[in-house]
Amino acid sequence: MGKSFGLIGLGVMGKSLARNLARHGFDLALFNRHVPGQEEDVARDFIRHFPELSQASGFEVLRDFVQDLERPCKIFLMVNAGAATDAVIDELLPLLQTGDVVMDGGNAHYADTQRRMERLQAQGLHFLGTGVSGGEAGALSGPAVMPGGSADAYALVRPFLEAIAARDKDGNPCCAHVGAGGAGHFVKMVHNGVEYAEMQLIAEAYHILRRGMGMSPDEIADVFAAWNAGPEGSYLLGISVDILRKKSLQGWLLDDIHDAASNKGTGGWATAAAAELGVPATLLTEALFSRFTSSFWKERHEMTQKTDENHENMVFGDVASLQAACQLARLVNHHQGFQLLAAASSRYAWDLPLTEIARIWTNGCIIRSALMEQLRKQVGSHGSFLLLHPENAVFVQQHLPALTQTTCAALAAGLASPCLAAALSHLHALRDADSPMNLVQAQRDYFGAHTYRLKTDPTGPAQHTNWER
Ligand code: 6PG
Repeated sequence: MGKSFGLIGLGVMGKSLARNLARHGFDLALFNRHVPGQEEDVARDFIRHFPELSQASGFEVLRDFVQDLERPCKIFLMVNAGAATDAVIDELLPLLQTGDVVMDGGNAHYADTQRRMERLQAQGLHFLGTGVSGGEAGALSGPAVMPGGSADAYALVRPFLEAIAARDKDGNPCCAHVGAGGAGHFVKMVHNGVEYAEMQLIAEAYHILRRGMGMSPDEIADVFAAWNAGPEGSYLLGISVDILRKKSLQGWLLDDIHDAASNKGTGGWATAAAAELGVPATLLTEALFSRFTSSFWKERHEMTQKTDENHENMVFGDVASLQAACQLARLVNHHQGFQLLAAASSRYAWDLPLTEIARIWTNGCIIRSALMEQLRKQVGSHGSFLLLHPENAVFVQQHLPALTQTTCAALAAGLASPCLAAALSHLHALRDADSPMNLVQAQRDYFGAHTYRLKTDPTGPAQHTNWER
């Protein structure tokens, strides 16, 4: 009898997922391409190292790998997104038969996933774009899994994906079919966008505590650890505590790390999708652009020398006020993320199950948090415009002074706070029933006859004025 599940690509994530699958009793065929000049027989060597893989078989020849699988084949791709994924699919296609299922577990762009799905479907094959979150540790002990594609294909692989996924607090798998086409990878991309802003907000809080309030990394770790025990708790905050406490020979390891943040593209895709769908996802965008700004490190050093400014008299509130500011900014970030999901759901007719998505994001993934537990209930009762949920409207009202005070103090003290500021501006813009966008409309009409509508009749006929006469 053939092996029940195949996995291609034994990088860090592929290896962890393979061990996770094996620990759940699945018999596996594993494939890793042999790159001339590099280590040989990666798959067989890997199998030898882990007792849970004793039933698995390893291959370097794709045909042999596919022949070792039972039909319909179920094959998980864990290769680099982009050209590498297409190259594997090109090689795999002639070896597959009608009804076989290919899952792409990489961080693929949702439009690529859609294209690949159509290509495989034309040959009677199934393709599932499967978002996987949780990093190396999550892949091994239970990631959040976001499969998208046909429901029939999902039914064939569901037992495997559910078995390896993390569990929510009720014991249910953090894995759900999120929709057709590229929905799985879109959902993973939004996850990453929210992740970027969550990371940036923690970094901004760290900056304020260290440079604004003069705390040491150890003291900041204590503050974050205390926050992490309450409603502000999150996986990312927890790892930040560990990071802040890590020492090097000279002091804190953090102080040795070059302060230019990189990215692998998903934040850019999320930003582009927000622009494409008309969703003001300002926090993820600011978080991405902050990484870009950080990469101008030579210029930053020069600017620091040439524009030295005295910020002596800036007064910060207390740590509790910073915590309240971060909590509110995080709510805005998640609100924007769910808005992005909702917009894609209606544009692409995916019917994304937002409550299920919030549920599978409560564990296993990088953005798991106490807040996500709360949102899971709120999305169910109120839809994606989370800031209008009655509890959140009260929360905004209560926490706005802290966000305003913290952000203003940080900017006045010369500390860039792009995500805090974006959250504050977004809230103020949403709370302004009399915005200056009438002037923008008038300008558009002035130079381009783009027309405008009247306040007294917002859905009524378009108006045009000859402004120069
Ligand atoms: C996850 C992560 C992961 C992502 C990294 C790197 O959910 O496990 O989102 O998929 O690749 O976080 O992202 P950047 O290199 O773009 O920061």
